[in-house]
Amino acid sequence: MASNKRKFGFWSVVGLIAISLFWVGLLSGNILWTSDTPPLQIIDDMDNQPKVKGQSPSSFFADGKATRDPLEYTVPRNGTKYNVSLDDANTKNINTVPVTAEVLARGKNRFETMCTPCHNHDGKGNGLVVQKGFANPPSLVRPEAVAYTDGKFFHVMSAGQNIMSSYADKLSELDRWCVVHYIRVLQNGGTHPKMSAKSINTDNQTTAQAGTAKAASAQ
Ligand code: HEC
Repeated sequence: MASNKRKFGFWSVVGLIAISLFWVGLLSGNILWTSDTPPLQIIDDMDNQPKVKGQSPSSFFADGKATRDPLEYTVPRNGTKYNVSLDDANTKNINTVPVTAEVLARGKNRFETMCTPCHNHDGKGNGLVVQKGFANPPSLVRPEAVAYTDGKFFHVMSAGQNIMSSYADKLSELDRWCVVHYIRVLQNGGTHPKMSAKSINTDNQTTAQAGTAKAASAQ
């Protein structure tokens, strides 16, 4: 009897340990199968924290947006806040940036980065984002747009227009004027009307650096 009892006790302990190991392994997600769902965490080391992600909706705020707009009277650290109305855009936005090879290179670099997704490399619209279903912007090289003042282009970039958002937070004022000059290049078949041919350096690396240096020194 006594030996029977001992045997039973021994196997119970082995069994319990086995069952315990199985459950610990199972619940921690480490055995039997792989899974995309996160493992059960007994102590969750702050891996999971409630938070809102930029651009996502949020029912917490009345306007339903997770991202907060800047407070009224917020001003950018560099440059000035743009508050010219569309009516004044042609007369108040004066392009004082000279047309140089560096400026055109910088304009090209910024245009290719910021604008081609929609306006395409040639400015005619039908960029990649448009091909995926975004509204087709009007051509920037059509005669009507050729007749726009520099100030009008600067205005659209600074204030946005309908579904095109403002680029004032992504392009400094100097960069915006550089882009305006580059749009004139596109409208003029590859050269700026005020400059002789082959003024645009197509080496992106060099132009980006030259442009950045120029923009930095001018700020
Ligand atoms: C996400 C797509 C998108 C990007 C990126 C974008 N735009 Fe636009 N843009 C549009 C759309 C769409 C319109 C037409 C808006 C409307 O309905 O008035 C437009 C309109 C314009 C117009 C006015 C054209 C006209 O004849 O009325 C100008 C100028 C312009 N964009 C310049 C730019 C420049 C310069 C950049 C880069 C700094 C840029 N856009 C980046 C989508 C875009």
